[in-house]
Amino acid sequence: MKLGQPRQRKALGGWIAIVALVSVNTLSGARPLEASEGLRIMADRTTGNCVSCHEVPAWRENNQSVNRLTLQGNFGPSLEGVGARYSKEQLRQWIVDARVINPHTLMPPYGTTVGLNLPARSQNLLTQKQIDAVVDTLITFTQPPVLGKDDKSIQAHSASGLEQLQSATVMSPIGLWIDEGKRRWEKDCTTCHTLEKVSKEVPSFPRQKGSQKLINLEDQIAVCRQRVEKTSTASGLLMSNDDGPTLELSTFLHDASRQLPINMAPPNKALDASIWKQNLAQGEKLFKTRLGHMNLSCQHCHDSKVGAAMRAQRITAGHPTGFPAYRISWQGLGSIERRIRACYSGVQAQVPAQQDMRLRQLELYLKTRAQGLQMEGPSVRQ
Ligand code: HEC
Ligand code: HEC
Ligand code: HEC
Repeated sequence: MKLGQPRQRKALGGWIAIVALVSVNTLSGARPLEASEGLRIMADRTTGNCVSCHEVPAWRENNQSVNRLTLQGNFGPSLEGVGARYSKEQLRQWIVDARVINPHTLMPPYGTTVGLNLPARSQNLLTQKQIDAVVDTLITFTQPPVLGKDDKSIQAHSASGLEQLQSATVMSPIGLWIDEGKRRWEKDCTTCHTLEKVSKEVPSFPRQKGSQKLINLEDQIAVCRQRVEKTSTASGLLMSNDDGPTLELSTFLHDASRQLPINMAPPNKALDASIWKQNLAQGEKLFKTRLGHMNLSCQHCHDSKVGAAMRAQRITAGHPTGFPAYRISWQGLGSIERRIRACYSGVQAQVPAQQDMRLRQLELYLKTRAQGLQMEGPSVRQ
């Protein structure tokens, strides 16, 4: 695959794009919606995006050639046959708010925002009219599902996709970042540090810095860059984790710490240790709290649905071992902070600002959860 040719829409989230309000307005216009409109809404990333989680055989049959845009997920059950099993009223309930049917549901509520934590917008995901159109389509799905067959096609496809991703042509930009980072390291950092010592510290970030701040590796690099560049921001805030030179240095240091085990421990001072523990507990709580219009927690995906496909993306345990990561949809490298923010965006939640404490608490929890796992070094992701 050639660089600079992303097949996906360029969005923070990747698998679920931010709903374009414009398109919602157009759809709720005077034109009556038909069954085929329902299918379009179910496939469209900017509206229903049901196919990111469900096999919708009618959509696949509409698209003879399977490519990244027509790939469907298996996070939820196939929707084949739902028209035979449910009435229109029941189908409507599934879409509007499935919590009424199953309080532990993983099916997002499309017709309400009641009880949602940090939804990105005040509008519902779908309008009344759009829901009608989807129900009219679902009720025509009366064939019983063919088990096994659909699952296989998803697997075969994403496996070959990953092979492409790991290919040498895509790996090379990481090499460029490492080289740039090395150049900076030798120029700016070796007066105070040796690589041998610092690389051993990499797997133990984020760290509690005194009683105040939890900082990750990129934050520490930013602190040291201020030392060298003799700059400081008026607000006292550190510069972005994804600032070019910081990310280059982070890529270089992560490369140097490849294969070392993640090694998280509370600080020695009792007061700092108790604050560290509070931050860790907070991170765990955040990990387990439902959020956004999708109304899913990090745990729902990265514990309960490991191995499931959301379109072309196969869900992993979300271990933070391979950062900074080169992502096709980013057309570049991004920090772990950026990835976590992308997951907030993916569930259509309000995305925390860069440097937000919640992002560090989540990183602390993710690292602690991955204690002992080997650092992969900078890696390639979809
Ligand atoms: C984030 C993933 C996700 C998305 C997106 C999603 N669903 Fe679901 N859906 C699920 C899961 C998981 C279930 C399984 C039941 C549960 O968790 O309560 C489900 C169940 C259903 C069911 C009941 C199926 C059955 O056999 O009982 C229907 C109908 C349904 N979804 C329709 C839709 C439609 C239509 C859309 C798009 C407007 C959609 N879903 C979007 C995850 C999703
Ligand atoms: C003037 C001396 C100085 C320079 C130059 C310097 N640092 Fe640091 N660095 C420190 C000090 C002191 C610490 C201990 C933590 C603190 O006070 O911020 C540290 C800590 C670190 C750590 C945490 C691991 C450890 O060993 O504690 C990393 C990573 C790091 N620096 C990266 C860098 C990078 C990258 C550069 C080049 C941009 C750099 N440093 C330049 C003084 C320096
Ligand atoms: C709707 C499912 C879903 C939810 C909820 C979700 N993620 Fe993700 N996440 C994904 C997908 C899909 C990917 C890309 C494939 C993968 O690496 O698992 C991903 C990737 C990641 C990765 C990168 C793993 C890697 O090796 O590249 C991290 C870290 C992560 N998520 C953390 C989080 C955190 C923290 C939360 C909660 C704020 C969260 N995710 C919520 C679906 C989800």
